[in-house]
Amino acid sequence: MSKKKINDFDMNNWKNYEDIITDSLWIINKRDNSGTHKGDYHGNFIPQIPYQLINRYTKKGEWVLDAFLGSGTTLIECQKLGRNGIGIDIDKNILEVAKERATSEKGNSKLEFINGDSSKIKLEKYLSKYNIDKVNMIIYHPPYWDIIKFNNCEGNLANASTLEEFLKGFEKVINNTTKYLEDERYLGIVIGDIYKDSEWIPLSSHIIQLMLRKNFILKSVIVKNISETKGKQNQKAIWRYRALLGGFYVFNHEYILIFKKTKERKKKNVKGTN
Ligand SMILES: C[S@@+](CC[C@H](N)C(=O)[O-])C[C@H]1O[C@@H](n2cnc3c(N)ncnc32)[C@H](O)[C@@H]1O
Repeated sequence: MSKKKINDFDMNNWKNYEDIITDSLWIINKRDNSGTHKGDYHGNFIPQIPYQLINRYTKKGEWVLDAFLGSGTTLIECQKLGRNGIGIDIDKNILEVAKERATSEKGNSKLEFINGDSSKIKLEKYLSKYNIDKVNMIIYHPPYWDIIKFNNCEGNLANASTLEEFLKGFEKVINNTTKYLEDERYLGIVIGDIYKDSEWIPLSSHIIQLMLRKNFILKSVIVKNISETKGKQNQKAIWRYRALLGGFYVFNHEYILIFKKTKERKKKNVKGTN
């Protein structure tokens, strides 16, 4: 079976792509602050994450969807890398910030900013504007349950009152958005575990299980360091004290989970709950 290309890499010159990470441990100590990236939205991710994923899993001119756009990091990277992008966020104020930043970045990409709940939004009318019915990759950077509240918008996953509610809400976003992902293409989920009521809550493991139940193929679990920020420096000593006292380790990493959507798997595993 011939494999359709999913990026622009010239594999005859594969040694040239030194900036592309292929290890599962990402130690990135300096945020990319170039162009219109600012890093001032509490809970944003570093631009290197969408940079790596977009380069690896899309070709120039293809479409990337970010279902939790926040301050627009993914669409700024789309603009820089010549990809088209659709971003959804439930909070219209942060969406305005994202729009301002991504459209002021240099580039000619087609960019669409949608205010709404990713578990409900219907994308057909936005896609048909560009004569497409599918996107070529999806990036998800949901709230890590309730550790940052973000806003009071109804449907905001950070306001889920239980873990089950958070996971159900996330599953609805997956159900509603992966139907717009082309078959045999990739999605990346950026997620951290949390520590709550003296217990480590493995959000990443719950989400891996959820995705496997839906018959997505797990391609990689990437561990990325959480580099120091000013806010964290102030809290470092108190967390070390709590860790020593409480029998746990202080978070210094988060995960990037890479999944592939495929039809093949569904045929093999008829009992799946897709
Ligand atoms: C972790 S932040 C994303 C940050 C983003 N990657 C950036 O670099 O700025 C999560 C975002 O998800 C949004 N959000 C939460 N629940 C949502 C939902 N059901 N649909 C769409 N957006 C949602 C929040 O408003 C918040 O901006």
